[in-house]
Amino acid sequence: MLSSLLVLALAGSALAQADYTADHNTTAITGTWSSGSQQVVPGVGFAIPAQEAFNYPKTTGVGYSFSDDGWYEIARFRYVANASHPECIVSTVIWAHGNYDLLDNGSIILTPIGDGYQQVQSQCGDDSNFMQDYNVTEFYLDWRIYTDVTFGPKLHLFQFDGSPVAPLFQLSPQPNMLPKQKLRNTGAQVVTSTSAGLVTTETLAARKAKRAHETPARRGWSSFWLW
Ligand SMILES: *[C@@H]1O[C@H](CO)[C@@H](O)[C@H](O)[C@H]1NC(C)=O
Ligand SMILES: *[C@@H]1O[C@H](CO)[C@@H](O)[C@H](O)[C@H]1NC(C)=O
Ligand SMILES: *[C@@H]1O[C@H](CO)[C@@H](O)[C@H](O)[C@H]1NC(C)=O
Ligand SMILES: *[C@@H]1O[C@H](CO)[C@@H](O)[C@H](O)[C@H]1NC(C)=O
Repeated sequence: MLSSLLVLALAGSALAQADYTADHNTTAITGTWSSGSQQVVPGVGFAIPAQEAFNYPKTTGVGYSFSDDGWYEIARFRYVANASHPECIVSTVIWAHGNYDLLDNGSIILTPIGDGYQQVQSQCGDDSNFMQDYNVTEFYLDWRIYTDVTFGPKLHLFQFDGSPVAPLFQLSPQPNMLPKQKLRNTGAQVVTSTSAGLVTTETLAARKAKRAHETPARRGWSSFWLW
């Protein structure tokens, strides 16, 4: 009697949990993953946090690493059109790391530790180029790993609204990542209001580095990019 109650209780709790068997994920999420042509890879070679710098990958994409002790690192390089000027292309490069949680219901939360940063550049006449802190908690509703006959394990992440992120290919079952600690001095943010009413925030290091040739018109972007 007692043992059958126990079995029922276990079955009940299992129902509420994500089913991490091979139907859901053919391999564990730990490792290094990258989209598209797999040029955007976390770890050494992408970001140099101490210098607040990036090595730009050859192509756009996104890369994630997950360790088996709950640490993640993300690398992202993309082009986005300015909403009001679609002809105006903006590039963003992002690096961040922190702790991830695989929730019982199958969702994932990536919580950064505060030393992430992004570079925003636009070739839109005003030639914007600035660095800012990037400390955004990322939430994914669900994830799956299939094994592709040609490409091997493929990680699918789904955003809060269920839309898929580009499929991620496994570069290695080991996580490629920088040391799991704070790697950048964040310091104070510089906040400036432009005449157009846009509020700009920049890291202090970036501000100092380019103060010499800065004009207000070059900094009108961040209200658009604070996500
Ligand atoms: C699915 O992923 C979870 C979490 O990484 C892992 O514990 C489990 O072993 C994986 N399942 C398979 C079949 O590899
Ligand atoms: C899982 O739980 C989190 C936190 O309660 C919630 O935000 C998320 O929407 C849930 N995911 C699913 C797939 O229901
Ligand atoms: C970064 O975000 C995390 C999660 O919201 C928060 O706990 C942390 O205090 C933030 N760090 C900074 C420097 O803003
Ligand atoms: C779009 O680009 C214009 C022209 O450079 C700029 O003034 C404006 O702030 C940008 N819009 C957004 C939402 O960033």
